[in-house]
Amino acid sequence: MNAATPPLPVVILISGRGSNLQSIIDAVANDNLPIEIRAVISNRPAAGGLQRADRAGITTAVVDHSLYSDRATFDQALQDCIECFQPGLVVLAGFMRILTAGFVSHYQGRMLNIHPSLLPEFPGLNTHQRVLESGGKQHGVSIHFVTEAVDGGPVVLQARVPVHQQDTVETLTARVLEQEHRLYPLAIRWFAEQRLQLDDTGNAVLDGARMTTPVILIPESAASC
Ligand code: GRF
Repeated sequence: MNAATPPLPVVILISGRGSNLQSIIDAVANDNLPIEIRAVISNRPAAGGLQRADRAGITTAVVDHSLYSDRATFDQALQDCIECFQPGLVVLAGFMRILTAGFVSHYQGRMLNIHPSLLPEFPGLNTHQRVLESGGKQHGVSIHFVTEAVDGGPVVLQARVPVHQQDTVETLTARVLEQEHRLYPLAIRWFAEQRLQLDDTGNAVLDGARMTTPVILIPESAASC
């Protein structure tokens, strides 16, 4: 990676408010994240993140899942839309759809997701609520390669946050979200700088070494990563 290397073309998929999208837009603008966000695509026409993309001058598109009769047809339309932008990486940033095996396999090794839990704990929805109900003392966020197993692909980066006794879903969500916004631009940077890959056997590789555990980002180490 050097100054002459063109930025990595990226397509970002969203379904909602797009705060993670915003953190990536900001990292491109302020921290030289070496990517070009070619498009932001939403499956929901009312997703607030579309306005964030508009404001940043990024092309937007909507592939409304409610207009498709089944998952496979929707995924094909979504893939057709993504392909218009020829991304080297697809970033799921609060994209709330389960993807078909064909779609996932097409983007194998070039699709990342962010999930608000310490995977493999708490895959699926409503993670903050479920962590509170479990009485666990620790929660967090994970960035992983997307594979066919929902929230099950190799985890590359995590941050942990404490769960306090007086926490509500709102306070815990906010604490995790702050970490999400630090982590996603960093993992995308690793990929864009060709430090991070998925190998042929489905393992994540960072700086040439197979990852047996994810990198855990702690607050003090943020500046040095
Ligand atoms: C985030 O908590 C993300 O981890 C989860 O969905 C939420 C999306 O938030 N997958 P936002 O749209 O990025 O604000």
